[in-house]
Amino acid sequence: MTLCDMAVDVLTTADGREKTRKSKAYAKAWFDAREAGTPLEIGRATPPLRPSRPDRPELLDPRDVPKRKPGSPAGRIALLHAVAHIELNAVDLHWDIIPRFAHVKMPMGFYDDWVKSAAEESKHFNLICDCLESENSFYGALPAHAGMWRAAEDTADDFMGRLAVVPMVLEARGLDVTPGMIEIFRKAKATQAVEALETIYAEEVGHVAYGSKWFHFLCGRQDLDPKDAFHELVRKYFHGALKPPFNEEKRAEAGLPPDFYWPLT
Ligand SMILES: [Fe+2]
Ligand SMILES: [Fe+2]
Repeated sequence: MTLCDMAVDVLTTADGREKTRKSKAYAKAWFDAREAGTPLEIGRATPPLRPSRPDRPELLDPRDVPKRKPGSPAGRIALLHAVAHIELNAVDLHWDIIPRFAHVKMPMGFYDDWVKSAAEESKHFNLICDCLESENSFYGALPAHAGMWRAAEDTADDFMGRLAVVPMVLEARGLDVTPGMIEIFRKAKATQAVEALETIYAEEVGHVAYGSKWFHFLCGRQDLDPKDAFHELVRKYFHGALKPPFNEEKRAEAGLPPDFYWPLT
């Protein structure tokens, strides 16, 4: 199988545990071949417009998803459920970008970064599912936000737009909100969830950094000013303003300077 074939196989697998099992196995195959000096071919394949997903959770308009108090046990389960949904979406986003833009010639390091992130997103989904199951719940027990795939559809024809909106806006937003979430679970003495979220928090910095690295790479290739290009693409494809407060320290660590995001608030 080429890397694009593997990506499409993950995208067209509906069950979350099965999707992430394949994702991790393909990442291992990719890195084993890289280490052996016989890298897999990138290939070409057509990704589905929307990835396959399980019958449950039911997907609702964000306005119709019931709000629960984060301080209550039910609220904490709802929060974990929302994170699991984001992580499963992230698995598909990381695999989608590979066949979607395979016509653009990229260095091998680009594929290394995306495959590694896809494997990490798969681990994140499983860690959060394990937390839900320890609380006698599961992914699919509650409704989840519809429309998470919208950013992918909006940027299906624009590689730089995809990098600007997905890792550099959406995943960067994760860096802003995760410390507050960790605090909620720490107060509840929910050690398993704290550890899972700390793993996610540490690894997400890398995902934002990969986005910034390859966005800058493409700007350099086309002789574009990265900050101006970023502002233009986010205004074009991201619906709404960016919301402070920002985690300026982690954003800086990930290669996102303040003059990239503050003008978009
Ligand atoms: Fe993640
Ligand atoms: Fe991520």
